[in-house]
Amino acid sequence: MTLIDGKAVSAQVRAELKVRAQAFEAAHNKKIGLAVVLIGEDPASMVYVRNKIRECEEVGIRSFAHYLPADTSMKQALSLVRALAEDDNVHGILVQLPLPSHLDAEVLLRAIPHEKDVDGFGAENLGLLAQNHASGCVSCTPAGVMELLHRYNIPVRGKRAVVLGRSNVVGRPMAMLLLNEDATVTVCHSHTAQLKEECARADILVSAIGKPKFITAEMVKDGAVVIDVGINRGADGKLCGDVDFENVKDKCSFITPVPGGVGPMTIAMLLSNTVKAAERVS
Ligand code: GUN
Repeated sequence: MTLIDGKAVSAQVRAELKVRAQAFEAAHNKKIGLAVVLIGEDPASMVYVRNKIRECEEVGIRSFAHYLPADTSMKQALSLVRALAEDDNVHGILVQLPLPSHLDAEVLLRAIPHEKDVDGFGAENLGLLAQNHASGCVSCTPAGVMELLHRYNIPVRGKRAVVLGRSNVVGRPMAMLLLNEDATVTVCHSHTAQLKEECARADILVSAIGKPKFITAEMVKDGAVVIDVGINRGADGKLCGDVDFENVKDKCSFITPVPGGVGPMTIAMLLSNTVKAAERVS
C-alpha cells in the first residue's frame, strides 16, 4: 500500500506556482491578485480564509481580503463583487461559503465573471467541464484529487471509478473529471441501492459524503485506489475521513490519509486556478 502524501504534493505544486507568479510579475509589472470575500464570522470559514490568504502570500499572489459583517445586505455584497469584477488587479474572486442565510449565494456567485471564477462554481465553468473543455477553472477539491492521481502515476483510463456524493462542489465535478479521463464512472448518493456492492466494484473509490469512517473493508476491492475527501469529527472527537482508514488500508494499492491527503490540495488548486486565470488574460 502506498500512502498518498497530499502535503508533499501540495508543497510541490505551490513551488511550481511561485515560479509562474514571479514570471507573471516580471512580464506585467504587477502581481497576480486574488480577492477573498468573507461575510460574517463562521469559525470554520475564518480559518479557511486565513489559510488561503497566507498561502497566497507564500507563492507571491497578492490577496485582497474583504471582511464584511454578518448583516451585510445583498445590495452591498453585490456591489463589492461587481467592483472586484471590474478591478484589473484582481484576477480571481472567491466568495467564501456558506453565506449568512439572508443572502442568496446563487445570485452573488453569478455576479463573478467566469474568467475570475477561481472556485469553478459558476455555470460557465461547470458547463465547460461537462463538455470536456480544458479551458475553464475546475472546482478545487476534485481538481486536487486528479492532481494526486496524476502525480502518483495512477492510471484512470478504462478503470471503474465510483464517486460517493453528488454535490456541485465535489461529487459532480469529480465524476466529470474522471469521465473526461476515460474512466467508467458511477455516482452514488443517499438513494443508491446496493451501495456497498457498488463501492466494492471500484478500482478507484472517491468518497465525499461527510460520514465518519463510513467506508469499511468489505466495501473496498483488493488493490483499489481509495481517495477520502471527507473531513469529519469521529466519535472520539478526532479529525477523521469518510474512510475507516485502519480497517481499509491493507486492502488498498493507494490511499489518502485524513488529515494530510486531499485537504492540503484544495488551496493549492485555488492558487493554481488563480495563476491560470491571470495568465489567460495576459
Ligand atoms: N467553503 C468551504 N469550502 C469552500 C471553497 O472551496 N470555496 C468557497 N468559496 N467556499 C468554501
